[in-house]
Amino acid sequence: MIHGERIRFRGPERADLPCFVAWLNDAEVRAGISAFLPMSLAREENWFEEMLKRPPEEQPFAIEAKQKDNWVLIGTTSFFDFNWRARKAEIGIMIGEKSFWDQGYGSETMLLMLRHGFETLNLHRIYLKVYSTNPRAIRAYEKVGFVHEARLREAHYDNGGYSDDLIMSVLRQEWDEKTKTVRRPA
Ligand SMILES: CC(C)(COP(=O)(O)OP(=O)(O)OC[C@H]1O[C@@H](n2cnc3c(N)ncnc32)[C@H](O)[C@@H]1OP(=O)(O)O)[C@@H](O)C(=O)NCCC(=O)NCCS
Repeated sequence: MIHGERIRFRGPERADLPCFVAWLNDAEVRAGISAFLPMSLAREENWFEEMLKRPPEEQPFAIEAKQKDNWVLIGTTSFFDFNWRARKAEIGIMIGEKSFWDQGYGSETMLLMLRHGFETLNLHRIYLKVYSTNPRAIRAYEKVGFVHEARLREAHYDNGGYSDDLIMSVLRQEWDEKTKTVRRPA
């Protein structure tokens, strides 16, 4: 378990899959991610079995939020496309419970992933691709220090039209600079 202020990460379980399927079939959630076809439980179960074969550090987390005395499943997050020589990985996030949007859970998740990526996995560069049509996600990433790095023109197609993709990243030295006031002395 990895603990933040209001959230915690745990490994995904088979029992979570119906929840994931419901999120992936929600048009508003799906608009921000690469999925664009109806998702079935059978396909999600297949994804889950394949996911378990990946190295543990490359497996996704389920995000839970503390609500009174209960922990509620609100989304998933993961690193992927690891390159261990360059010490870089891409990051993805889905807060599937829309009632939790715009309350800081997305940015808190990214902060906790940055800490995990830099201080546990010893990554050097953490980056992401976001649709330019997803201002909520862009704002959440900017809030925790992701730097705009590139614009891939007309790289995305949805709803009958093209739009740009944005690449954003955080480097280890930027993370160190941001957190040095709270860092323990060596
Ligand atoms: C994108 C996502 C992770 C953001 O999570 P979240 O918990 O809503 O994020 P936060 O609350 O930390 O931050 C959202 C920010 O965007 C702002 N925002 C919301 N709608 C906005 C809009 N239309 N334009 C500009 N800013 C907007 C919010 O006000 C908030 O900023 P603030 O804290 O300065 O007020 C979540 O909405 C999600 O998972 N969406 C579906 C999947 C997805 O798009 N994943 C991202 C793939 S790159």
